[in-house]
Amino acid sequence: MDNQLTLQRSAPIGVFDSGMGGLTVLSALMQAMPDENFVYLGDTARLPYGTKSPATVVRYAEQAAGVLVQRGVRALVVACNTASGLALEQLTRRFAPLPLFGVVEPGARAAAAAGHSEVLVLATESTVRGGAYQRTLHALNPTLRVHARACPLWVTLAEQGPESPDVVKVILKRSLRGFDDHATTLLLGCTHFPVFREALAAMVPGATIVDSAATTAQYVADGLADAAGAGGAATPTRTEKARTEKARTERTVTFLATDGVSRFRRVGSHFLGTEIRDVELVDL
Ligand code: DGL
Repeated sequence: MDNQLTLQRSAPIGVFDSGMGGLTVLSALMQAMPDENFVYLGDTARLPYGTKSPATVVRYAEQAAGVLVQRGVRALVVACNTASGLALEQLTRRFAPLPLFGVVEPGARAAAAAGHSEVLVLATESTVRGGAYQRTLHALNPTLRVHARACPLWVTLAEQGPESPDVVKVILKRSLRGFDDHATTLLLGCTHFPVFREALAAMVPGATIVDSAATTAQYVADGLADAAGAGGAATPTRTEKARTEKARTERTVTFLATDGVSRFRRVGSHFLGTEIRDVELVDL
C-alpha cells in the first residue's frame, strides 16, 4: 500500500551529506517544497569528509550520489559543503543530465548580499583548503575581504547532539578569535554548523550569520522550476493549496545511513527539528 502510494507520487529528490548535518538542508528543502518526496543519505560510516583528501571526497561523493541515483531520484542536492566544494563538477559530469545542486553557490550569494565588507567563512579543513567559497565570494564581489577558518572540532561537537554546551562555547569562541568584536558576516560553510547558530549570535551580536540551508532550498526550488519550464510562481488556487496540504502529510521522506541507524534516529532528529522514525542501513 505504501509502495503503491510512493509509485503514484513523483520521484524523490536525493539529498546527501557525510552525516547528519545535511538534515539542516533537508529541513529547509521540505519547507520550501512541501509536495516533494525526499530520500536522504548520511554517510555516517565515513564521516568526517572534511579532513579527507580531494580525491577521497570525490570518490565518496560519487558513491553516495550513486546510491541515490539507483533509487530513481529526479534531482540531487549535495548537502555537504566539503563535497560541494571539491566534487560538484565531477558529480555534475558523471550524473548528467540529472539536475544537481550544491550548497556553496547559494551560501556565497547570501553572504555577499549581507552587506558587510568582511566575510569569515567557517568550514571544514578540506573546504577551506579547496577554496571554493573564497573563489565564489570574490567572483561575486571582488572588493569583499574574505577570511576562511577551519573548525575541525565543530563537526564532532555537532554530531554529539546538544550535550556539553560549556565545552561548545569555549571551542566556538576560540575559532572566532579576532572576529568577535566587529561587524562581519559569518558564513557557516558546513551543514553541521547551523546547530550553533544561536550560540554564535550571542557571542558576536554585531555579525550577520548566513547558513546555506534556506538559501539552498530556494535555489533548488527555483532550479527545478526552471528545469521543468515552469514560469513565475502564480498565486495558488484553493485546490492547489489543498493538494499541497495533503502532500505535506502524505509525502515520503526516506532516511538512509551507512552506520549507526539508532544514533542517526536520535541525534538526527536534533538536526532535522522533527522526529526521525525509520532509518535504513545501506552499504556504498
Ligand atoms: N557536513 C559537512 C560539510 O558541510 C562536513 C562534515 C564532515 O566533515 O564530514 O562540509
